[in-house]
Formats: sequence, C-alpha cells, structure tokens
Amino acid sequence: MSSAANDVSDRSGQPRAWRLVIHGGCGVLERERMTPEDDAAARTALERALAAGAAILDRGGSALDAVEAAGRALEDDPHFNAGRGSVFTYQGTIEMDAAIMEGERRGAGAVNGVTATRNPISLARAVMEKSPHVFLSREGADEFSRLQGLEQAPPDYFGTPERRRQLEELRRQPGEDYFDIDVKYGTVGAVAVDVRGHVAAATSTGGLTGKRWGRIGDSPVIGAGTYADDRAGAVSATGAGEYFLRSAAAHEICARLRFSASQGEPPAPGQAQAIVDSVLGEIEEMGGSGGIILVTPWGEAVSRFTTPGMYRGEASPKGRSVAIYGDEGDAPTP
Ligand code: GLY
Repeated sequence: MSSAANDVSDRSGQPRAWRLVIHGGCGVLERERMTPEDDAAARTALERALAAGAAILDRGGSALDAVEAAGRALEDDPHFNAGRGSVFTYQGTIEMDAAIMEGERRGAGAVNGVTATRNPISLARAVMEKSPHVFLSREGADEFSRLQGLEQAPPDYFGTPERRRQLEELRRQPGEDYFDIDVKYGTVGAVAVDVRGHVAAATSTGGLTGKRWGRIGDSPVIGAGTYADDRAGAVSATGAGEYFLRSAAAHEICARLRFSASQGEPPAPGQAQAIVDSVLGEIEEMGGSGGIILVTPWGEAVSRFTTPGMYRGEASPKGRSVAIYGDEGDAPTP
C-alpha cells in the first residue's frame, strides 16, 4: 500500500478528514407516496446510523468498525429491508445476504441466505476475520454464526406485518414473475474513510420480496454490490441486483478510479462522481436502476441514484445530513 493512504495527514500536512456515507435503499420514494410518520421515522433511523458510525470515526476509529456499526443500526430498524424488516421469500421465509470489505488488505467476508443472525453484517465480518473463507452460504453460514456466538433471533423478529402484506400483494399478481422490480424498500449500506485514509464498505439486504429458487442478488457478491480498495475507494450499491451483478458495478467503479488515480495522487475533482454516473448509466442501458454510495481515500464522497429517491445520509467532521427524495439534492462533495 502506498504511504499516501496510510498517513494521518494529507499532502498539506492537515489531518485527514473522515467521511461516512450510508444508504437505506432506493426505489419509488416520492413525497406524495410517503406518510409524514414514515418520512420522519426513516430520517430518524438514518440519523441514528450516521451517529453510530460517526462516533467511531470521530475518535480516530477504523472505517471498518464504522461501516459495521452504521450497518447494524440500519439492520435493527424495521423500515429497511435488512436484518429486522427483511422481505419475505415466495415461501414466506427470511433469507438475508450481507458483505463487508476493508480496503487496506482487501479483506472481505460475505454471507448468503442466512435465517437467524440478528446482524448479518457482523456475521460477514466474522467470516472475514474468523474463517479462512470469504463467502459462506445458507445452513453453513447459519451454523458458523451460532459457533461464533453471534446473537440469533426467531423468524418473527425479522418479518414485520408490512412485509407479510407486501408478499401477499405480490402473490396475488397473475403470472410467474414474482419479483418486486420496484425494490422500493431496498438494501442498506455504508462506506467510510477514516483518518488514516483506509476505506471500508458494508451492505446488507433481505433481497427481493417473493424471491425464489435460492436467488442471490448483488449485495453479498464482492465486486458487484460491495467493494473496497485503499487505492480507489469503497462502494455499496442498492437496486435491481441482477444488473449490478452483470456489470460487476462496485469493482468496475473502483477499477476505473484506480486507473484515474496516478501514483497515489487523487483523481481530478468530479472524476469519482463521473465514474459512478457512467456505471449507473450503463446499468440503465441494460434495463436496470439503482443507487451507489462511494467514498475515496482522498475524502471525496458520492451518493447517486437513478430511481426517484434513495434513503441516504452523509457525515463528516463538518456535520451530518440525511435525505430521501430526488429533489433534496446531495450533500456537496469537496
Ligand atoms: N440489491 C439487492 C438485491 O438485489 O438483492
């Protein structure tokens, strides 16, 4: 790793500023469809997740700890499709996916189809740190979780009445195409850069309402929905997972950023956002939609989406902001 991303100071000798960006999923999120209560509850939940991660970064903690803490807060809130509040499969079961990655050594952990772990992001971290593997699946991942002593919860904890109603609505539709293509309650994710210039990303989801046949989306797939590399940045995606898988979106963004950066110097201002927009544009051309959050080791933060809205938030030493709708504008990037 080049020293550029390890120093606590930047090139001007100033302490590096940490940054945290989160999302709670994207989709048809429009003011007129949202009750004031749901709007307020979602913003409170986003604030809580930002506070959890920012507290760690502000005292010099690691990006990895921060994205895990922010992700756990989002998993614990039933408004989002991850952990508590995960959507149901067609059979009425809960099958959760999660991944975490740190950019210093490019360590990664991921799980698919877990049914009882209260915080799948922490299980993904346990896979990264306590197993020789990167990706564990279904019964094996559940067993590893119990062996690691991670907190387990019964099915009733994860599945809310609203998620049950959504499944019943979907099952009433004619035909065999049960997928909720609006993905309107989405995945959760967090990306961060810490004062040492290390980046990390975490993503967690219940997947799509009515998913069948062991369907796996992009979230737990390293390089598709989640990626982190200190030479480029950290990415978490939300949206129609099949398209993010086909475009290897998270790795594609990091690869382009790495090629743009020269000798550890940052890419030109605006380059990170242009790369994210370009990859989201390619996904749109393929027929998909979604959102991406990104931070770079140089402290740039990007939050972009091609759906009407995305639950999102950003924190830095300068303050915190949250937003839902497309017309709220994003926190400015330096
Ligand atoms: N983006 C989440 C999923 O497709 O499962």
